[in-house]
Amino acid sequence: MSVNLTINGQPVTVPNGTTILEAAKKVNIHIPTLCENSGLCRRAICRICVVECDGSSKLVAACANNVWEGMSVVTNNSRILDARKTILELLLANHPQSCLSCVRNKKCKLQTLAESFGIRTAPFERDITNCPPTIESETIVRDMGKCVKCASCVEVCQTVQAIGAINTSRRGHKFEIRTPYGQALNESFCAFCGQCAAVCPVGAIYEYDQTAKVWANLNSGHSAIAQVSPALSAALDNEFGLAAGTITAGKMAAAIKLLGFDKVFDLTIAANACNSKLSGELEERVKNGGKLPLVSGCSQGVFRFVENFYPDLIDHLSAVTPRLIFAGKVKDSYAAAKGLNVSNITSVSFVPCLAQKYGAGAADDSAIAASKTDFALTAGELARMINLAGIDIAALPEEPFDTINIEQGSIAKQTQKETVRSFAEARKVMEAIREGKCSAQWVEILSCHNENC
Ligand code: SF4
Ligand code: SF4
Ligand code: FES
Repeated sequence: MSVNLTINGQPVTVPNGTTILEAAKKVNIHIPTLCENSGLCRRAICRICVVECDGSSKLVAACANNVWEGMSVVTNNSRILDARKTILELLLANHPQSCLSCVRNKKCKLQTLAESFGIRTAPFERDITNCPPTIESETIVRDMGKCVKCASCVEVCQTVQAIGAINTSRRGHKFEIRTPYGQALNESFCAFCGQCAAVCPVGAIYEYDQTAKVWANLNSGHSAIAQVSPALSAALDNEFGLAAGTITAGKMAAAIKLLGFDKVFDLTIAANACNSKLSGELEERVKNGGKLPLVSGCSQGVFRFVENFYPDLIDHLSAVTPRLIFAGKVKDSYAAAKGLNVSNITSVSFVPCLAQKYGAGAADDSAIAASKTDFALTAGELARMINLAGIDIAALPEEPFDTINIEQGSIAKQTQKETVRSFAEARKVMEAIREGKCSAQWVEILSCHNENC
């Protein structure tokens, strides 16, 4: 059923159940948002999206209220703009405003809103939470002094991932986001999927930056090899603010070589080698009556998920991931081909997803950070390295990926494989395995819906 309404006098027709925010988007009317994330539930915490609608004396949140027949909405009169500005000023009074040194500088929703509202003064007394950033397993940094309490991270962790490693706590002005009992994430049930960082609108949760360590290795005369997903080019377009399609796989390969890497491989080498190894493992289990289904994961966080929630099913798990194949097999093959000592080769995976950072370095001989030779860096970290090196990636001529002789394989056609793309979906399959109701031979758990992984 369709609903007819007007927004700022413009007629709009949308399906019943559409929010005011979605209806406004349909006629290119922009309503600012901060806590809204499509796909997550409607929390309406920040109130930055308030609008007037007839029949209500109060301003209502456009992200959380549905349209109705004959409704008339106003999105931009002075009452609304003043209310939004006051909300922003209150948020900024609690925010450190250390934009220059913030990882989200120029990519922060709060900063963009402050700029678009022309906020130049601070009418409210500053009240900043003094809380130093915490580094979690060299994967995620939480800097809760910058948190605007939108609860997007809580929502994604609890609803999409069904993990519940972060919670809301207390009420009113004491409302806060924290882990149960205030424990560190690596002491919690966190599976290090990175989805909380992906939805955080400010610099309160972000990837742990390892670029300094990689630079140190590159400058120490280490031989260095990289693997990169061709799909990372879209994320780099975004990082550099370029039109979609500007950065190609060939430009990425060229830029990574200019950073000092000897070889740049296509990520699919390790992915195919991983599939080949897993297929062999599955065959082995079928032949010898091993645990079925075989459960594999995209990252080490998946192992953590199974250990934490399904310890009774641990024997189903395979230890193989594409990243470990790269850090092991590809590195070994390259060392053998070049007559190099493996411990003198730095291997870096440039990955589209923060989840891959968790456990990178597990293949290192030494746990001493300074001697790390295996890293996983995100598109943001790659962009920072390219910027620091003064490389104009968009202008670079393309270069092909390097090739290496390593066993590649495919999955047998008749294999019954089931792939899930979140931990909430993974839970359903793991429950089915527990109850003996899973008919798949191979269950692949990917920790997010990122199609580029
Ligand atoms: S990394 Fe994933 S599991 Fe851990 S707190 Fe964030 S969303 Fe939850
Ligand atoms: S950490 Fe980020 S996503 Fe979570 S509540 Fe704070 S601002 Fe929102
Ligand atoms: S974006 Fe609507 S209440 Fe936050």
